[in-house]
Amino acid sequence: MTTFEQLNLRLTREPLIGIIGLGYVGLPLADAFHTGGCRVLGFDIDQAKIDALATGTNYLKHLGAEMTTRLASSDRFSATTDFSRLAEPDAIIICVPTPLGRHNEPDMSYVINSARDVGRAVRPGQLVVLESTTYPGTTRQDMLPVILREAAARDVNLTPGTDLFVAFSPEREDPGRTSHTTRTTPKLVGGLDDASTDLAVALYKRAVQAPVRVSSAEVAEAAKVLENIFRAVNIAMVNELKVIFDHMGIDVWEVIDAAATKPFGFMPFYPGPGLGGHCIPIDPFYLTWKAREYGQNTRFIELAGEINTRMPRYVVERTVAALNDDRKPAAGSRILVSGLAYKKNIDDVRETPAAEIIEEFFALGCHVDYHDPHVPVFPRMRKHKLELTSVPLSPQAIASYDAVVIVTDHTAVDYRLYADHARLIVDTRNATKGLRPCKARVVKA
Ligand SMILES: NC(=O)c1ccc[n+]([C@@H]2O[C@H](COP(=O)([O-])OP(=O)(O)OC[C@H]3O[C@@H](n4cnc5c(N)ncnc54)[C@H](O)[C@@H]3O)[C@@H](O)[C@H]2O)c1
Repeated sequence: MTTFEQLNLRLTREPLIGIIGLGYVGLPLADAFHTGGCRVLGFDIDQAKIDALATGTNYLKHLGAEMTTRLASSDRFSATTDFSRLAEPDAIIICVPTPLGRHNEPDMSYVINSARDVGRAVRPGQLVVLESTTYPGTTRQDMLPVILREAAARDVNLTPGTDLFVAFSPEREDPGRTSHTTRTTPKLVGGLDDASTDLAVALYKRAVQAPVRVSSAEVAEAAKVLENIFRAVNIAMVNELKVIFDHMGIDVWEVIDAAATKPFGFMPFYPGPGLGGHCIPIDPFYLTWKAREYGQNTRFIELAGEINTRMPRYVVERTVAALNDDRKPAAGSRILVSGLAYKKNIDDVRETPAAEIIEEFFALGCHVDYHDPHVPVFPRMRKHKLELTSVPLSPQAIASYDAVVIVTDHTAVDYRLYADHARLIVDTRNATKGLRPCKARVVKA
């Protein structure tokens, strides 16, 4: 049997799947392979995560405690910080961060470090798949050479497509969404060659219902970037319209609902206080950076970035104007920010616009508290360091603020309480929709 045939056969039996990076993407993926009957060996540099997985402690709240308990009690799952064990799996999937550097340039250090780790342990007959979101070309031009170089340094000379198989398969995780899971969301798969694509499709058949084969790793990489740019641009468009309609005294939310009654040719996107999370504020700029190599500009991405980045300041300006109508100067005003996470019903604060909004209020001399049932303590963030804890809600507490600014529309928050007791609500999410009659004055922003 050829190396390809052997690996193909193993993937249909009880293969060992190595997953590097056990975060928002890697952990549910590990669970999906485990549920599909595979053995799973997780790798992470964060010892705290490895310890938590050994005891079944859940460190990503939105996934629920059941997942980590299930994995901890299974003899088909374990996790380690020992990267020399990367020689063991039949397939290795890389799910490490791809953030932006200080000048909005791609920070590929995590992917390159993982490629080095793989190269130091790789053996003939393994499949390596990159899942981290990135620009087209990363898998072939950046990751593969590092793996081959590290392997060659150990006198392991591998031929891609013959005894080493490499593919890209973008993650489509949407934390907090229950209508689609890792298992039910169709998954794009594109290899560096046909053999790699065949094996990667066979691999993902074990974890997801519908792997979707594309002709190359580059197509899969570009499709992921397209998905995120599509969202960034459309959100920017409605954010711009929101500002225009605000000036005209028209409720943008009602306008979108009205337009969405058209059964074809329209897809609703909603405005907000600014972008957050790991994907939409970051990934489009990966393409911007790569496009420069080809002498191309990404004007839609730049414009969307400009508009979306301005939104937190717009929310603050609208609040200040509304306070002014109440003859209240911003300095000394008491503000309650409702919601710290970047989107509803999760505890993820990465790139959350709430942090910038809070900092702007502080800079204006406001007294600021926040309430978020999912984020009890303001975590340490790359750009923001604030010593705050979530305050409890009560009618008296709410009435003591000059303004309540709804940044995230968590389901667990009782918006009726705001409607009945706040003086002024600045609502960036339409969370007060239908809460009439409302004692508070509501300003949509
Ligand atoms: N979070 C999402 O909703 C989402 C959705 C789609 C795609 N993605 C993409 O998936 C990738 C991973 O994102 P995430 O949200 O899971 O990140 P995360 O920060 O939640 O998890 C990454 C994990 O990798 C670990 N890690 C970092 N360097 C490592 C290394 N050298 N070796 C082993 N482990 C290492 C970290 O400790 C962490 O546990 C990113 O490229 C992201 O853009 C994320």
